[in-house]
Amino acid sequence: MNDALTVQVQLSERSYEIVIGTGNLTAAGAFVGQRCKLTHAIVITDTNVAPLHARRVADSLGSLGARVDEEVIEAGEASKSVANADRLWQRLLQHKADRKSVVVAVGGGVIGDLAGFVAATYARGVAFVQVPTTLLAHVDSSVGGKVGVNLPDAKNMVGAFWQPLGVLIDTAVLDTLPDREYRAGLAEVVKYGVILDAEFFRYLEDRADDLAARRPDALRHVVARCCRLKADVVAQDERETIGLRAMLNYGHTFAHAIEAEAGYGEFLHGEAVAIGMLAASRLAERLGRVDRRFTERQDALLRRLKLPVAMPAMAPEVLLEAMQRDKKVAHGRLRFVLPKQMGQVELVGDVPEEDVLAVLQTA
Ligand SMILES: NC(=O)c1ccc[n+]([C@@H]2O[C@H](COP(=O)([O-])OP(=O)(O)OC[C@H]3O[C@@H](n4cnc5c(N)ncnc54)[C@H](O)[C@@H]3O)[C@@H](O)[C@H]2O)c1
Ligand SMILES: [Zn+2]
Repeated sequence: MNDALTVQVQLSERSYEIVIGTGNLTAAGAFVGQRCKLTHAIVITDTNVAPLHARRVADSLGSLGARVDEEVIEAGEASKSVANADRLWQRLLQHKADRKSVVVAVGGGVIGDLAGFVAATYARGVAFVQVPTTLLAHVDSSVGGKVGVNLPDAKNMVGAFWQPLGVLIDTAVLDTLPDREYRAGLAEVVKYGVILDAEFFRYLEDRADDLAARRPDALRHVVARCCRLKADVVAQDERETIGLRAMLNYGHTFAHAIEAEAGYGEFLHGEAVAIGMLAASRLAERLGRVDRRFTERQDALLRRLKLPVAMPAMAPEVLLEAMQRDKKVAHGRLRFVLPKQMGQVELVGDVPEEDVLAVLQTA
């Protein structure tokens, strides 16, 4: 383990640390032990991550003398369900989990959200630690305390805000992540640069090749910077009441529509976000907020990271309708997070439909 970085998440009595290193997974036991009295841990993971990484976390917890139970959920978004939450509640009961137990989520966003929701609700809330294993989970889903499950027709519809005791990130776990999943995570990384940090965007332009090659030093820096940026937003708007957290949805109104219309699974979320950010940027161009060069910089970086950039062949009217159904759209009125300059975005309301349609037509 070397050069671990620490990001503080300031949430008064719920404050905690995110520790980012390379090769630090085997120190998971000590990490948890420093943050609670470690007597009983339930490791929740999925079928892909169990043999690759979760077992090492469980062993590390066990080596400190803790009783360790492991629950393995089928990998995939469909597992983020009420049925699985129910199953896990029952399993926790069988494992005699109580308020002194700690739930340790080892996996991507699906496991983090599901295990976090179970931790938030079982016995009215038990301690929770995140060990995220996808790039998306490193930079996005493990930060901010949003946990939950999907309803059959509504993603993330049932959930809670439940902050972990700590988040342990080992960038070495990304070595086993399929290429497409890895690149999809990079789209969210680019997003942070555009919305909050011009200098970070330049860093990404400089180090794009190192990032594509998963160089550990670049990864630690990038993950820590993204966690820092998101943590600062969350600290100011923990429960999404003042609209600041909404800035994190740059490109997402378009992305959600693309994901919904293509059928879930056709595009990974990050791939749709890459296309969505470019659409939002073009919309900002049409509204005279940024120049063409602004969009081109994003386009060039996303291409170097091998992310899709072209709007899929879908009827603009159909995509527009999907956007109006998006739960983030206030009363059917189209609002977008649009850039003003690199590192700065604003929520823009009442965007004319014809401008949105024009952007959707861009092939
Ligand atoms: N809570 C939040 O704030 C928040 C934010 C963004 C996204 N999310 C949620 O996150 C979920 C998506 O997360 P995700 O992209 O991590 O998906 P995921 O958890 O489904 O992981 C993607 C795939 O990678 C596999 N995997 C995970 N780690 C691996 C590793 N190290 N090596 C090999 N394979 C590995 C998984 O088994 C899965 O097949 C969605 O449900 C989304 O709603 C939540
Ligand atoms: Zn996203």
